[in-house]
Amino acid sequence: METSRNPYSPGAGAPPPELAGREGVLESAGNAIVRAKAGRAPKALMVLGLRGVGKTVLLNEFEKIAEANGSQTALVEAVANQSLAEMLTPQLQRILLKLNRLQRVGHELQRAFGLLRSFASVFKVRVGELEFGASNEPVTGDLSLDLTDLFVAIGEAAKARNTVIAILIDEVQYLTQEDLSALIVALHKISQRRLPLVFFGAGLPQLAKLAGDAKSYAERLFEYPPIGPLDSESARRALVEPARSEGAEFSDDALEHILEQTRGYPFFLQVWGAHAWDAAKLTPINAADAKAATTRAIAGLDEGIFKSRFERMTERQRQYARAMAEFGAGPANSTAVAELLGMNVKQAGPVRDELIKKGMAYSPNRGDVAFTIPLFDEFMRRRMAGPGKGPRAARKVGGN
Ligand SMILES: Nc1ncnc2c1ncn2[C@@H]1O[C@H](COP(=O)(O)OP(=O)(O)OP(=O)(O)O)[C@@H](O)[C@H]1O
Ligand SMILES: [Mg+2]
Repeated sequence: METSRNPYSPGAGAPPPELAGREGVLESAGNAIVRAKAGRAPKALMVLGLRGVGKTVLLNEFEKIAEANGSQTALVEAVANQSLAEMLTPQLQRILLKLNRLQRVGHELQRAFGLLRSFASVFKVRVGELEFGASNEPVTGDLSLDLTDLFVAIGEAAKARNTVIAILIDEVQYLTQEDLSALIVALHKISQRRLPLVFFGAGLPQLAKLAGDAKSYAERLFEYPPIGPLDSESARRALVEPARSEGAEFSDDALEHILEQTRGYPFFLQVWGAHAWDAAKLTPINAADAKAATTRAIAGLDEGIFKSRFERMTERQRQYARAMAEFGAGPANSTAVAELLGMNVKQAGPVRDELIKKGMAYSPNRGDVAFTIPLFDEFMRRRMAGPGKGPRAARKVGGN
């Protein structure tokens, strides 16, 4: 069918034509804003999930909800090698300017501007001219203390204007331990003071442990709604509704096939939906179209996101990942993976840690390791021969 009318949207952060199966978490976000406005400390939401489950899409939705409720928002994406101070300062400046527009400088706002100015200077962040605030608001150079003061000052300025501040951070697992810990300390203080500043974060599943290691009370501060594959009804809706809006339907066996192939993972649903649409001559999209979509989708992934991840791995990381893939889609036991590689756990540990650090794997439970990207195990088995079969065989199977 006409590509120009293809309704699906595979792509990082691309808003899906039908945001299926996330009603619960969207409601929690709405409640958090309402509670914050009423002076009842809400829990911070930290959305956890594998690659492509729709975390970024959700954060964008949270921002919309916050804006619709009259909140001031700051949305940033953490990247390796950028400090939290660098990331947040320009956004916080923008928020303060907005607060100033709501109601001209009051003493709290004056103080917040001054603090931000000192904060930027001590953490060496360059910002545009700050119009207001004395530059001699005291800061210590200790990120936890200074970020806490800054959040409190901004929270108080927001409270005086009867508005809510929403801070949203994507890819939180890339924050350094020090930054993450300072963020948690600052949010903890905000919650104790019941100030109207809400936090929404998103990241890979290992984040819960990172936060807990940084500060043991993180567990009580955050709510961690797990975001996973869609249940079969929502997955169907994610496929059927966009087609319907363009006057097309799916046959039941086509839907069954796509659900089985994608396991309900949102990114894959978009990829398969898009290919099935293109493959179909007319409505309904049938089983043959769905199977053609599978062929095209897998080829696309193998040359696209799977390949780019594979290329980012060193040879020993690939060997480790290939051994993991022997255990299928679920978590693999680290000891068993090491054994397959002819190593003990201690020898294999560093490779495993490298993969985790690169965001390719995580540890769902103590002693277990799993891929952060769904269907990656299948790709690894297509791409490389199994452990013990020698590099020559591996090259042959890999095809280059
Ligand atoms: N609830 C949903 N229903 C249908 N499609 C969805 C849903 N949520 C997300 N998608 C689609 O899934 C894809 C991935 O979404 P998104 O980029 O938000 O995932 P992510 O979890 O942030 O991934 P990553 O970890 O790689 O950043 C997009 O194409 C998006 O349109
Ligand atoms: Mg994302």
